[in-house]
Amino acid sequence: MFGDVYAHRRVFVTGHTGFKGSWLTLWLLDLGANVTGYSLGPPTEPNLFEAARIGTVEARLPMGAGRFTDLRADVRERHPLRQALEMAAPEIVFHLAAQTLVRRSHAEPHLTYQTNVMGTVNLLEEVRALAASGRGPRAVVNVTSDKCYENQETSHAYVESDPLGGFDPYSSSKGCSELVTAAYRQSFFNAPGMPRVATARAGNVIGGGDWGEDRILPDCARALSAGVPVEVRSPGAVRPWQHVLESLSGYLWLGANLWRRAADDADEEVASGGAWNFGPGPEATVTVHEVVEHFVTAWGGGEWRPAPEAAEQPQ
Ligand SMILES: NC(=O)c1ccc[n+]([C@@H]2O[C@H](COP(=O)([O-])OP(=O)(O)OC[C@H]3O[C@@H](n4cnc5c(N)ncnc54)[C@H](O)[C@@H]3O)[C@@H](O)[C@H]2O)c1
Repeated sequence: MFGDVYAHRRVFVTGHTGFKGSWLTLWLLDLGANVTGYSLGPPTEPNLFEAARIGTVEARLPMGAGRFTDLRADVRERHPLRQALEMAAPEIVFHLAAQTLVRRSHAEPHLTYQTNVMGTVNLLEEVRALAASGRGPRAVVNVTSDKCYENQETSHAYVESDPLGGFDPYSSSKGCSELVTAAYRQSFFNAPGMPRVATARAGNVIGGGDWGEDRILPDCARALSAGVPVEVRSPGAVRPWQHVLESLSGYLWLGANLWRRAADDADEEVASGGAWNFGPGPEATVTVHEVVEHFVTAWGGGEWRPAPEAAEQPQ
């Protein structure tokens, strides 16, 4: 898959202990990449990173799979980030580390901006320093969110040229991360031979191994296991649902195309990076309560009710 770009490739993944980062690490290793993960610890207990025993995965990998280095450090700190990047000398970087909860972003906006905005600045700054020494990666994919857009409360699917914004600190921090990336691309990475830098904007994902707080399917599983009704925030809200591996395949295609196009400069649109939405078709755009009803049916019984307080579904 992915034109064999990832076989034996040195890939740096921030946020590798999270839900998406764990899946991405496993997939990259399966593709034969040598992965260096840079992250704080898993954000929940239990979590996919430990459940899938990714920390010791190398011993169980088949012949031909890649190697894995598990680094635990903070994207808000430049020194360890520099050391890790110098050690890993990555050819491709996926930046996923973030404070990902909308509700927590209301409680801790400063932490959210430090992590999601200055974390992006720190990463791009260290990539810039590596590139100046001739050891920079060829491709960088910064994972933001479809919440980065100015929320116009309409049902139209956002396109990449829509205005950026975000009501809450999490959403706006992802919009800021987009702006930071665009400025670095235009100011520092627009010369031949420099890293190709793109952003990837996906929406709510679902899939195995998600124990995340304030995420609708984990909330359903927790409530129904405990024999209590699922409390559903924003039941009438419409979301573009997709499986976690769908969005990750988009990130992997983007990384592969940046890497290949940077080599031959064949397709300027991809080669110049830019911003890319990854979403499902219109058939997957359904309300939260429809998804909950499907879940309850598949579970074999149970109830749901609107939550007393209306809160936005975080991602
Ligand atoms: N899960 C979704 O539905 C969804 C939707 C859209 C966008 N995203 C984006 O995808 C990315 C991954 O999401 P996820 O669902 O895997 O999130 P997650 O909360 O499961 O994982 C977050 C990861 O970031 C790391 N992290 C947090 N703060 C850090 C810091 N200061 N320094 C280093 N590492 C830090 C955590 O340790 C963890 O590895 C995030 O950027 C998120 O905003 C997720």
